[in-house]
Amino acid sequence: MSGPRTAARRIACVVGTRPEAIKMAPLIFALKREPVFEVRVVASGQHADMLTQALEYFGIEADVNLGVMESAQTLDHVTSAVLKGVGAFLDSAPQDMLLVHGDTTTTLGAALAAFYRKIPLGHVEAGLRSRDLTRPFPEEANRVLTDRISTLFFAPTRQAAENLRAEGVAEPRVFVTGNTVIDALFWTLGRGDAPLSGGLGLSLSLDKVPPGAPLALLTAHRRESWGAPLTRICGAARRLLEKYPALWFLVPLHKNPAVRETIAGELGGRPRVIFTEPLSYPEFVAAMNRSVFILSDSGGVQEEASALRKPVLILRDLSERPEALSEGTGVLVGTDGDRIEREASRILEDELYRASFAARVSPFGDGHAGERIAKIIRDYFSEER
Ligand code: UD1
Ligand code: UDP
Repeated sequence: MSGPRTAARRIACVVGTRPEAIKMAPLIFALKREPVFEVRVVASGQHADMLTQALEYFGIEADVNLGVMESAQTLDHVTSAVLKGVGAFLDSAPQDMLLVHGDTTTTLGAALAAFYRKIPLGHVEAGLRSRDLTRPFPEEANRVLTDRISTLFFAPTRQAAENLRAEGVAEPRVFVTGNTVIDALFWTLGRGDAPLSGGLGLSLSLDKVPPGAPLALLTAHRRESWGAPLTRICGAARRLLEKYPALWFLVPLHKNPAVRETIAGELGGRPRVIFTEPLSYPEFVAAMNRSVFILSDSGGVQEEASALRKPVLILRDLSERPEALSEGTGVLVGTDGDRIEREASRILEDELYRASFAARVSPFGDGHAGERIAKIIRDYFSEER
């Protein structure tokens, strides 16, 4: 006769924006593989289109979608709607643990909902710090506040774990796991969904680019870049296009009108500039692979570029991912037009320098972060019994 069965542990994973979906997908897969867990996916819908697009690629269906997105939404709206929505979910379907990711407003709102109900909170991608609450805004505050009320901390790197310990988080609750984005990237590459020579719908939009022509990939969306910084970034892209007649720019536009209007206004109508809607994840991976360099203010893109060994010029004044700088997988260029132009020119002109990126080792993980985190959560519950 078998002994009494242990009740499954109920774990809810919260996602709200595109990067949360991509970075939580490997963990959701890993948790669902463990029979001991009953997994729920709660989508805040902070991003409508971009969240659905990312979840669809990974074949993940949200159990609940709060649909909070509004056009030109405010931080107040997102924070309060997520807090109330996730709170109502937790009241109707009590959970043994809530998992949040990173630093968005969904992250903070959901974290508060768990905290108010004394539900253990696991923070994936914990411990990143720029040490300036205004940059990135409001993400630095979101991650600091979320870490303050978390139970388990899944730090992607040793440095992130060190940041937590320095803030007094007790050692046994901090785990260095690697970043789940590397799992997502390797999964996508492993499926052959992002072949080196174009892929999916992307090959259509790249038809015009001559096969050997250098392609630069540009993404930007940070709040602190809206307005003048974004205009300077586009100005640098324009000058690079003039200086290098073979150069092309691929610009997948973020859905946020505050961003797309500026970029479309500054680069629209220029020869050798290709605008696209947000690319599906495998299309974007293929685009990174096809590029000679990437210009981006995105967090996830910095991590992926390092694993793909692509030079990435980071359009930020300071970084919460110092590993990219110390390992030399990324270059912090800020939003100064001259600096961007200078660094991009160096990559385009100096073959040895360009090749040096291919030899660098990504500090962000080995592609097994999701499994590691699932095991840590399993151990947490078995120790608790
Ligand atoms: C959010 C996150 C940011 C993250 C980024 C990833 C906050 C405060 N910001 O920034 O940390 O790096 O997502 O991309 O949590 N929109 C659409 N469709 C979409 C998505 C957005 O139309 O699918 C438009 C809406 O008008 C929305 C606006 O973009 O109001 C802004 O979206 P929001 O999530 O508030 O900010 P992001 O800049 O996307
Ligand atoms: N990404 C994507 N399609 C795009 C642009 C980006 O799938 O058109 C992916 C990218 O590979 C990375 C994530 O979206 O995994 C980054 O999202 P974003 O830049 O919106 O947010 P951040 O990482 O800055 O929070």
